[in-house]
Amino acid sequence: MAGIIGSCLVVLTALYLISGGFMKQTYMEPWSKGYAETYSDPRVCLAASGLLAASNHNMQPWKIKLDKSDSMAFYLYADSSRMTSEVDPDARQMMISQGTFLEYVAVAGEKEGWNVDIELFPDGTYDESNLAESMDMKPVAKMVLSRSPSQSSALYEATFLPDTNREAYKTDQLSSTQASTLESLSSESGASIKLYQDKGDLERIGEYALEGATIEAGVTRVMDESNAIFRANEYEKNEYRYGYSVEGQGTSGFMRDILQGLVTLFPSMNTGTAASQNFINYTQTSVSNTPAYAMIVTTGNSRIDQVESGMLYSKLVLTGHTLGLVMQPLSQVLEEYPEMQVPYTAFKQEYAPDGGTVQILFRVGVPTESAPLSMRRDVQSLISEDE
Ligand SMILES: Cc1cc2nc3c(=O)[nH]c(=O)nc-3n(C[C@H](O)[C@H](O)[C@H](O)COP(=O)(O)O)c2cc1C
Repeated sequence: MAGIIGSCLVVLTALYLISGGFMKQTYMEPWSKGYAETYSDPRVCLAASGLLAASNHNMQPWKIKLDKSDSMAFYLYADSSRMTSEVDPDARQMMISQGTFLEYVAVAGEKEGWNVDIELFPDGTYDESNLAESMDMKPVAKMVLSRSPSQSSALYEATFLPDTNREAYKTDQLSSTQASTLESLSSESGASIKLYQDKGDLERIGEYALEGATIEAGVTRVMDESNAIFRANEYEKNEYRYGYSVEGQGTSGFMRDILQGLVTLFPSMNTGTAASQNFINYTQTSVSNTPAYAMIVTTGNSRIDQVESGMLYSKLVLTGHTLGLVMQPLSQVLEEYPEMQVPYTAFKQEYAPDGGTVQILFRVGVPTESAPLSMRRDVQSLISEDE
């Protein structure tokens, strides 16, 4: 008996060491409340809040240029080296992720006593036939700071919470106050929020979400692209600070290190057929435990529409937190690669019949479990000063 216990302890200790469980988690530093304040330049301070926002595949595809001639101005660029072209061939999700960042900057600005004037595409929009080069040349936004009274803000406090909760949600429908508060955030710019809570809609949207996930699970190049940014252990998480990790699949604490140790030793646990099956199972659990879906719909599908949808999504997530609600995008059926075309077209016809675009489909509800925080890059790695 003592021998068995001893062997188990040896195995667990080995897995813990392989996982890097003893390491300092530098990839978590940006979540600390004092992190942004360590920067005296308010632009860097606000960028440090911006990078807490949600992004597609946690790519954090952001570049910041500080204006050398104006200490109150800075620019956000989409980082073309961070495109995920298989899953997001039109870079639509990447542009939504620019908006999520901008809204966080604006919310942090209010708290820190800065009005952030945001001008989208100040040098004009992209040359779509030369997209990557265009992203490098043209900023998504120019941000200019001016002093305003500092305001304590529940939305700011919520920026320190995880944006994405992939766990089961309680079955309770949203209260009429929760629903109307979220719906009232539809922006003046034209991005609107649609909420679905009827049994029929829940089933129908759930079927689309599951069909999308099942198709995606079968497209090897898309799965490979996602698996390539999976960080198996603490060494990799500290090195890259973006992408996925086991926390996103609902594992935390000591179990996290055991699983990370196993996945490091046996990578096939989280690649190929195993990864695909995991993904389908996970989506099945999600859709079976969802009391409401919501969508952000735009009339057009311009780059500005996409960025504004991201801003609205951040606003929804943060407001949701203040109402005790959490969210999770389910993007697959909205993705533009050829294998998704049949459900993509059917979904669009059903939920945006007037030719609009569903920019984000997401679950909403009261969580049954809290979600862990995910990796974040160091703000200084976003910044270049050659403007
Ligand atoms: C445009 C966009 C699409 C996303 N799509 C999905 C998705 O399909 N499934 C999912 O679980 N999370 C999705 N997410 C959430 C990201 O994976 C998440 O923001 C990222 O991993 C960081 O985690 P956090 O939001 O908890 O900080 C999406 C986020 C954005 C901005």
